Amino acid sequence: MEISGHHVMITGANRGIGRAVAMMCAENKAHLHLVNRTPDDELLEALKTAGASSVTQYQADLGTRAGVDAFLRAHGALEVDILFNNAGQLTGGLFETQEFDEIETMMQVNVNALIQLSRHYLPGMLTRKTGKIINHSSVAAYMHFPCASTYAASKAAVAAFTDCLHTELKGTGVSTLLLITAGVETRMFKDIPKLYGKNLDVTWLTSIPPKKYAEMIKEAILEDLDVLKPHGLSGLGLRFAQHLPEAFQKIVTKRFTR
Ligand SMILES: NC(=O)c1ccc[n+]([C@@H]2O[C@H](COP(=O)([O-])OP(=O)(O)OC[C@H]3O[C@@H](n4cnc5c(N)ncnc54)[C@H](OP(=O)(O)O)[C@@H]3O)[C@@H](O)[C@H]2O)c1
Repeated sequence: MEISGHHVMITGANRGIGRAVAMMCAENKAHLHLVNRTPDDELLEALKTAGASSVTQYQADLGTRAGVDAFLRAHGALEVDILFNNAGQLTGGLFETQEFDEIETMMQVNVNALIQLSRHYLPGMLTRKTGKIINHSSVAAYMHFPCASTYAASKAAVAAFTDCLHTELKGTGVSTLLLITAGVETRMFKDIPKLYGKNLDVTWLTSIPPKKYAEMIKEAILEDLDVLKPHGLSGLGLRFAQHLPEAFQKIVTKRFTR
């Protein structure tokens, strides 16, 4: 699917991967609709300068059902061609140390908001017989590391949801793209050692710059890929965990201490 001239909605576009994808879409002359909890007016100017056909920013907290409802009441009539459900939160550490309030908010952002926004904008795409829903999952959906229990559960839900939707949408003109993302240098990536590092050796984790990942996402959109998987060692690790889960668990166990 082309990016140029299309209306692209991105959640969590003020920093990290969302911001890099917004910049990539601006360079490709998209109309941008940024759904940000933390508005960034300087970013809007930068996106216009980079070539965006238009840029609109909407302030919304996706961490509550009320926040998503309020956003949709105000802006639900937008005709969205590409919906990028990117906003996400990280939880982690030994399960019994994680606060349920934080888990609930993370699930709301990572899963419920993603499903609610998809549910809202899909019918318009189906009527227009064109559109793409891009959902942000993670290698954690398949590589089941200790300390990642609740975050991994959220990303596994995203992967399952998107797989089911992919099949339902065949022949409609609307498609899905599942991002099975590995390390990308963002605030979330930097938080992994803080949340997991006490009990899990994460010193071997590698990452790529957000700009490079945004270019990979661009190619996946243009080529209408169903799934974007990581390259290199992260890609090998993903295949290992998917095809030999017991051997993967043995290796992971060696890196874990209680
Ligand atoms: N970086 C990686 O290595 C990696 C790996 C796998 C998957 N991912 C996924 O990639 C996506 C983007 O993460 P990132 O790495 O770019 O991390 P990031 O820099 O921490 O960005 C997270 C984004 O989500 C937004 N967000 C969080 N809570 C929100 C809420 N309640 N309402 C609205 N927006 C909210 C943040 O906005 P605020 O600035 O307002 O907090 C921010 O824009 C996430 O879904 C993440 O799970 C990342």
